[in-house]
Amino acid sequence: MEKLKVMTIFGTRPEAIKMAPVILELQKFPAEVEVTVAVTAQHREMLDQVLNLFAIRPDYDLNIMSAGQTLFDITSRALLGLNKILEEVKPNIVLVHGDTTTTFAGALAAYYHQIAVGHVEAGLRTGNKFSPYPEEMNRKLTAALTDLNFAPTNTAKENLLREGIDAEKIFVTGNTVIDALYKTVRRDFKFSDELLNAIDYDGKRIILVTTHRRENWGEPLRQIYRALKKLLAEFPDVEIIFPVHKNPIVREVVDEELGNLQRVHLIDPLDYEPFANLMNRVKLILTDSGGVQEEAPALGKPVLVLRDTTERPEAVDAGTVKLVGTNFDNVYQNAKILLTDADEYKKMSESHNPYGDGIAAQRIVQAILWSYKISDVKPTPFEL
Ligand code: UD1
Ligand code: UDP
Repeated sequence: MEKLKVMTIFGTRPEAIKMAPVILELQKFPAEVEVTVAVTAQHREMLDQVLNLFAIRPDYDLNIMSAGQTLFDITSRALLGLNKILEEVKPNIVLVHGDTTTTFAGALAAYYHQIAVGHVEAGLRTGNKFSPYPEEMNRKLTAALTDLNFAPTNTAKENLLREGIDAEKIFVTGNTVIDALYKTVRRDFKFSDELLNAIDYDGKRIILVTTHRRENWGEPLRQIYRALKKLLAEFPDVEIIFPVHKNPIVREVVDEELGNLQRVHLIDPLDYEPFANLMNRVKLILTDSGGVQEEAPALGKPVLVLRDTTERPEAVDAGTVKLVGTNFDNVYQNAKILLTDADEYKKMSESHNPYGDGIAAQRIVQAILWSYKISDVKPTPFEL
């Protein structure tokens, strides 16, 4: 029997974190599957951090990142580079993840070669074309090109059904981010970074912050950071740890608003292992990240989401995540409530896990093997 040729294509930090469990699972079937890993390297350092952690060595690396790249740069460079790789490898199926520009370019490149597409983390929607931008459209456009949809939750499956996608092509798998998290968070984890080890996690109230969304660039980011400043001034026991995204557009505003402030630790992006373990130690998380919204509820950490929309309603419904937008007063008031109202804090820190049970990658690989008639085991859908 010829092996099934599966190529994974990804390019940024979150795609790597969430695709790593799928690659590691595929590698468990060497007799049935030949796995090729292609990265666009839309991110460089932040991608390499994840590749190192999970010991994944790409077979192809397009190294497309340039400082201050535009959506046009990423899309065109990824598409042209992937054309050559696909021509050479001729996989049976390409797996892409999530909603980045690499995701869409990967699916489009596969389609141009008439190669099947599997979409991991399919079906998340806000219904707003410009929020998140361009991720909402990256997801929709990828869905239109996809043959096998791996929806993390039932809500995501319903979104796909509403768009007329065949139920037979949708597998509810849970989100692989929970697989990665379970492999990474340990109670006895010791940071190798002196600063993170020296922080008084019990005596102080530590707020973890991350921001990067394109629709928040400029004034919205400024408003968020000013709200943080006000919280610091009001609560002397609050300390902020802020691993700042590598994007220079984000870094500039962070430095202007929060540089040289006492009790604010502006640090480089952390490797996934220390970051995940840091989430597990802090009091509260303020973020515009997609992935962090999924991880924190599993760790019982309240999250204030610095966005106007979310494609991840499950944790909002469960009560551990609250959408607060980017308005100065909203961010400040909502954080203040959690710092002053013990009952509110307790309500939001009940641990919930609406996104996965740690075996999403196993379901995805089972679904692929079943779809290609290599195995007759169809995965049992993930249920909340
Ligand atoms: C990208 C994705 C976004 C995802 C985010 C995860 C798109 C359009 N955006 O946004 O969906 O949520 O990644 O973090 O696909 N940079 C570095 N080193 C790195 C990474 C980035 O220097 O390792 C800098 C470069 O100057 C780069 C800039 O950041 O040009 C922006 O990177 P880009 O991938 O275009 O956008 P992100 O905001 O990271
Ligand atoms: N993360 C990380 N180091 C950091 C900040 C975040 O490893 O310094 C991880 C985080 O745990 C999550 C992922 O990166 O799994 C989220 O990436 P990001 O916020 O960049 O992208 P998004 O999820 O919004 O697409």
